[in-house]
Amino acid sequence: MTDLTGQRVLVIGGGKNLGLAIAQKAAALGADVTIGVRSLREVAEGFQVLHLDITDEDSIAAAAAELGPVDHIVSTAAAHHNVPVAELDKTAALTAFDAKVVGPLLVAKHFDVTGSIVLFSGVAAWKPAPGYSIMGITNGAVAFAVSHLAKELAPVRVNAVSPGIIDSGSHDAMPEAQRDAFFEQVARGNLAGRVGRTEDIVEAVVWLWGASFVSGETIHVEGGARSA
Ligand SMILES: NC(=O)c1ccc[n+]([C@@H]2O[C@H](COP(=O)([O-])OP(=O)(O)OC[C@H]3O[C@@H](n4cnc5c(N)ncnc54)[C@H](OP(=O)(O)O)[C@@H]3O)[C@@H](O)[C@H]2O)c1
Repeated sequence: MTDLTGQRVLVIGGGKNLGLAIAQKAAALGADVTIGVRSLREVAEGFQVLHLDITDEDSIAAAAAELGPVDHIVSTAAAHHNVPVAELDKTAALTAFDAKVVGPLLVAKHFDVTGSIVLFSGVAAWKPAPGYSIMGITNGAVAFAVSHLAKELAPVRVNAVSPGIIDSGSHDAMPEAQRDAFFEQVARGNLAGRVGRTEDIVEAVVWLWGASFVSGETIHVEGGARSA
């Protein structure tokens, strides 16, 4: 069992869904946890909260100066722009890259991190679909980003988790019948035969925190969706 007693963990995007579950798990494993949120209204009970907008370098630099050294950083931040190429909005496309790729690079620039960084990719990178090009390309770039950052920041370990479709709460805004149909379609489209659970992803992050011989990798937690 990974023990994070005495370690400081920052979860960017930790205000809800996968990020919040990761923050809760880190706290349960003994860590001193801070969540980085872009709106301080999202205060999750019991956590230290830091203002951090990953698309804003000044905000990242200020958060790094305020928090000081950290053992582990996780970023779940995403700003998806799911539209057909014919409808692309340049500002939204660049924000999507800021949230997933450029922002994490600037986090690496400003924070004094001693243990590991875990970023979030996603299965869309390996399953091209019309209307999801920005999501796929940004998630794919995350896999390259962790490889390059791992080399440059060593011995700090830098890895990514690439989830499949997870019932994390991020689909809760869909009408229930539509969401159920979507999850059934997801279950048919992977080898595990089910939609992902939040615990599937949290377990992968916990493993990465303790995996001292793993760096530069993207861990696919998607029920074999790429092979289905
Ligand atoms: N859930 C899935 O099925 C799935 C599948 C593949 C990949 N993933 C990836 O896994 C990660 C987490 O997924 P999730 O389901 O937890 O997604 P989510 O519900 O969309 O959560 C994303 C988190 O990032 C925060 N965030 C967005 N922009 C930010 C910014 N500029 N600065 C700081 N924080 C920001 C959000 O805060 P706000 O409340 O302020 O928006 C939210 O807390 C994402 O990167 C997602 O792309 C998820």
